[in-house]
Amino acid sequence: ATERTFSIIKPDATRRNLTGAVTKMLEDAGLRVVASRRIHMTREQAEGFYAVHKERPFFNDLVSFMISGPVVVQVLEGENAVAKNREVMGATNPANAEEGTIRKTHAESIEANSVHGSDSAENAAIEIAYFFKPEEIVG
Ligand code: CMP
Repeated sequence: ATERTFSIIKPDATRRNLTGAVTKMLEDAGLRVVASRRIHMTREQAEGFYAVHKERPFFNDLVSFMISGPVVVQVLEGENAVAKNREVMGATNPANAEEGTIRKTHAESIEANSVHGSDSAENAAIEIAYFFKPEEIVG
C-alpha cells in the first residue's frame, strides 16, 4: 500500500553539500518527496524528537550533533515507504551497511550517519506530525 515515512538529512550530510545526492538516492529507490524543509533544530526540538532515546548513553552527544548544523526534514511517499526507506538507508552503523546504501556511501560514523528514517508506520505518523502541518504535505 502507499505509505508515508519521515526522513532527516543530518548535519554531516548538509555540511558536505550532500542534500541533492542523498535525495537522489531516496528518489531512485522509488520514494517521492512530498514535503521538505531545511531547518536548524533547537536543542529542545531535538531532545523532543529523540525522547525515546533519552536514557541511552549516546543521547547527549546525539542531540548536540543534530543541532550542530542545518538538517533537511522530509516526508517521503511510496509503496511500502517505511521499509523501502530503511533499505536504501542501510544499517545504523555504516560499518554494517550494505554496498549502495546511503549510509555505506556517505555516512561518517554511527552517530554522523547522514540520515534518519522512521522505523515503523506508527512512528512515521508521530514524526511527520512533529515537523509538518497537514497542508505542508503535498502528495
Ligand atoms: P537515528 O535513526 O537517527 O536514531 C537514533 C540515532 O542515534 C541513530 O540514528 C544514530 O545516529 C545515533 N546513535 C549514536 N550512537 C548510537 C548507538 N550506539 N546505537 C544506535 N544509535 C546511535
